[in-house]
Amino acid sequence: TYVVTEACIKCKYTDCVEVCPVDCFYEGENMLVINPSECIDCGVCEPECPAEAILPDTEDGLEKWLEINNTYSAEWPNITTKKPEPADAEEHKGEEGKFDKYFS
Ligand code: SF4
Ligand code: F3S
Repeated sequence: TYVVTEACIKCKYTDCVEVCPVDCFYEGENMLVINPSECIDCGVCEPECPAEAILPDTEDGLEKWLEINNTYSAEWPNITTKKPEPADAEEHKGEEGKFDKYFS
């Protein structure tokens, strides 16, 4: 599966949802997650994210993010159409420590 990681927090560009063939993105207040059970591993969303937040879970150190994607995709609503990013998205692009500061 692919997972959405920390770089999405407060950026939330939502380009990813437009290309997913199985509509498996879910929306929280500050970030999106993928439902790992629904993701078919096509990989088309990865290059679409301007924040480079989407990664295959086979990369090292993504266990925490796999768990977060699993947990919250069961709680948050599905999102299938792009919407405008937050006004301060660019300011938060590449920022460190976003999980501790803003995750919700
Ligand atoms: Fe959707 Fe494909 Fe991305 Fe999985 S890898 S979330 S199926 S676009
Ligand atoms: Fe987040 Fe990137 Fe999608 S910032 S909302 S994973 S396009």
